[in-house]
Amino acid sequence: MKQIAVIGSGTMGNGIAHTFAQFNYKVNLIDINQSALDKAIQTITKNLDRQVAKGTLTDDQKAATLNNITTYTSIKDGVKSSDLIVEAATENLDLKLKIFKDLDEYAPEHAILASNTSSISITQIAAVTGRGDKVIGMHFMNPVPVMKLVEVIRGYATSDETTSTIMLLSQSLEKVPVEVNDYPGFVANRILMPMINEAIYTLYEGVAGVHEIDTVMKLGMAHPMGPLQLADFIGLDVCLAILKVLHDGFGNPKYAPCPLLVNMVAAEKKGAKTGEGFYKYTAGSKDLIVSDKFKKS
Ligand SMILES: NC(=O)c1ccc[n+]([C@@H]2O[C@H](COP(=O)([O-])OP(=O)(O)OC[C@H]3O[C@@H](n4cnc5c(N)ncnc54)[C@H](O)[C@@H]3O)[C@@H](O)[C@H]2O)c1
Repeated sequence: MKQIAVIGSGTMGNGIAHTFAQFNYKVNLIDINQSALDKAIQTITKNLDRQVAKGTLTDDQKAATLNNITTYTSIKDGVKSSDLIVEAATENLDLKLKIFKDLDEYAPEHAILASNTSSISITQIAAVTGRGDKVIGMHFMNPVPVMKLVEVIRGYATSDETTSTIMLLSQSLEKVPVEVNDYPGFVANRILMPMINEAIYTLYEGVAGVHEIDTVMKLGMAHPMGPLQLADFIGLDVCLAILKVLHDGFGNPKYAPCPLLVNMVAAEKKGAKTGEGFYKYTAGSKDLIVSDKFKKS
């Protein structure tokens, strides 16, 4: 494995490209949107500067990392000599099926096709390709350069060889890979999202306020961040999409998204990325300020 392609240069794609490039892989970072690619390079540069300031990376390593990344706006050009493609485009089933059809056509025959999807079935994605044995989930956590876990998801047809290649590759990035099977939400989001949904129900039913719910979970359960703050960080639209996958996939009402979450997404209050969710976010400020909507009178 030398040549990696990453599809999508948003929140996750830039972190995945950064991580592979830092560990000396050549990375082609691909997005349909040139401005997303420009923003990704800016973000990667800023994050590398932070590593240099902390003393965990040298200036030469920073330069080498940036030098390992080339950007493309065409999948066809960007994947043609790749050994592994990690897809991290928008969480949308039809979009991912289209991308994997293209990858199957344009990537070399030996290439492994991985998806960073949070919840979409790897088995379903694999079925649109002619190489189901080489399709796998490689679920990195946000922020990718910092978080140690890679949830490695075996689809119905994923081979042992593909799985062990991806487990070893993840270790070469100094990550800890964990192998799981392909069922809705895999492991991470099957457990995390019901907790976040329950925290939103607890607020919706007036049991406690935003600050109180997050404080109980932070101080009582030693979670680094409360579930409502975490939901804002992930994106409330992303949380809603994952809950719908769990609800549809298991047909169990316990996964039904809280109506408050549905309303907040409809109102474009999607968390940190839109400036407001359960908390209010202003550029440059690290203070955690509860949204006016949830302030106690
Ligand atoms: N945000 C998280 O915390 C998180 C965590 C783990 C996994 N994920 C998963 O990672 C994936 C990406 O999520 P994100 O938060 O980075 O999204 P994002 O919206 O930040 O970025 C998605 C990028 O994909 C690009 N894109 C859309 N269609 C494309 C196409 N056809 N070809 C190339 N690029 C295309 C968009 O221009 C955008 O830059 C999703 O599957 C998501 O479920 C997200």
